[in-house]
Amino acid sequence: MVLRASLLTERASKKDLGNFSMHIAVVGLSHHTAPVEIREKLSIPEQNMEGSLKALKADEQVLEVSILSTCNRLEIYTLVKNPETGINAINDFLSTYSGLEKESLSPHLFNFHQEEAVAHLMKVAAGLDSLVLGEGQILSQVKKMLRLGQDYQSMGPILNRLLTQAVSTGKRVRTETNLGTGAVSISSAAVELAQLKLGQLSGEDKLFTLETEIVGVVGAGRMSRLLLQHLQAKGCNGVMLLNRTRERAEALAADFPELPINCHLLSSLNQCLSSCSLVFTSTATEEPIIDASRLNSIKRSNFLRLIDIGVPRNISADVDGIAGVESHDVDDLQEVVSRNQEARQQVALKAEALLKEEGRLFLEWWDSLEAVPTINLLRASLESVRREELQKALSRMGPDFSARERKVVEALSKGIINKILHTPVTKLRAPQTRIERQKALGVVETLFDLSSSQD
Ligand SMILES: NC(=O)c1ccc[n+]([C@@H]2O[C@H](COP(=O)([O-])OP(=O)(O)OC[C@H]3O[C@@H](n4cnc5c(N)ncnc54)[C@H](OP(=O)(O)O)[C@@H]3O)[C@@H](O)[C@H]2O)c1
Repeated sequence: MVLRASLLTERASKKDLGNFSMHIAVVGLSHHTAPVEIREKLSIPEQNMEGSLKALKADEQVLEVSILSTCNRLEIYTLVKNPETGINAINDFLSTYSGLEKESLSPHLFNFHQEEAVAHLMKVAAGLDSLVLGEGQILSQVKKMLRLGQDYQSMGPILNRLLTQAVSTGKRVRTETNLGTGAVSISSAAVELAQLKLGQLSGEDKLFTLETEIVGVVGAGRMSRLLLQHLQAKGCNGVMLLNRTRERAEALAADFPELPINCHLLSSLNQCLSSCSLVFTSTATEEPIIDASRLNSIKRSNFLRLIDIGVPRNISADVDGIAGVESHDVDDLQEVVSRNQEARQQVALKAEALLKEEGRLFLEWWDSLEAVPTINLLRASLESVRREELQKALSRMGPDFSARERKVVEALSKGIINKILHTPVTKLRAPQTRIERQKALGVVETLFDLSSSQD
């Protein structure tokens, strides 16, 4: 809080915070606007984050910037000088990063401005824009966007405040509504999809238990942990867990003492694909680890069902059409997700009122920044009067006045100024229309002759 306040004071000037041509915007794509084959081209892993933020910030239109990169979305939040040229700069970056021509990328991009951008972020943080409504991972991802923006110093006071407020909104929604209950996630939807497909295999449209299955899970990160939780809850018979590093797989397996788990290195992938009939993949690889040539080289007796929740995809699209193999990616989860959304939609409506309130609070704070330059000038003007008059009084008192007495008089003069300033400053920053605020600022500037003190 102290840091933010000092930053504001430092940066506030008529040209900067008080100039409302400055614009908050978000540009991006998500599962609502782009299929996984486009999204995976715009997945920005953590190791590329610093370079990407620097590249964006290097454009003189971009004052502040932060990036949200998840399996279902890539969103760039920014404060730009001019909406048109600022957004163009972001579009140029997206096209360069993805290697896609602007013409083929733009139909998949959305952009929101000002209030709409703020409302969108609040919705995202609450999990209301997620494929699985109310899923919890998005809040950690928004926290991560805030942390990376701070670490790489790509944000200033405005985005800092916006993202901090989005994080607290996400938490508030989860504590004040039932939206987060039921441990919903992409992983739970993936397990549900597997159960549905097993049901459909026997001609029924219902969820099947996994009691007879030894399920392959490739990857031992956060999503695999959630997969194991859901597989265990659904009574899965056992798991063959594969990972690039054995220690991480073993550490993960140790957290599930009641689920029989065999850990292997990725070099056992062919064995896993030939012995399991259901395999989940959730690694952060940038290149597919399963493709047609691998599958064609393996002897399989079982029908093989693959469910890939990785973005970029872990399973190449060329496996489609191989006899005895059915492959699904994150976009196929829509099928099970829509089965569960109705009940959650009701809760989501409740949460939206809360999001509106949080969005309004941010916008009021942002609007109030318009008063900062005038308040600073007013303070400076009264402070110079205080110093001048204090100096005169102290020199009149002469050397008889003790150091302690001088301090008391100085504190008295400061106290009077602060008391006088308190009400006008509060009123200038209080929520009001822009016209009202500008009128009030004009009156203060005229009465205290502040326009001449700016020069
Ligand atoms: N987090 C989410 O909310 C979410 C939601 C849906 C989908 N996804 C997607 O799911 C995948 C995993 O996400 P996560 O959050 O679980 O990641 P994570 O916790 O960072 O774990 C990454 C996993 O991928 C493995 N890995 C990394 N690079 C690899 C490579 N080049 N080859 C083989 N394995 C590699 C890691 O192995 P080591 O242990 O050996 O490092 C680890 O098992 C990602 O594609 C992500 O986009 C994530």
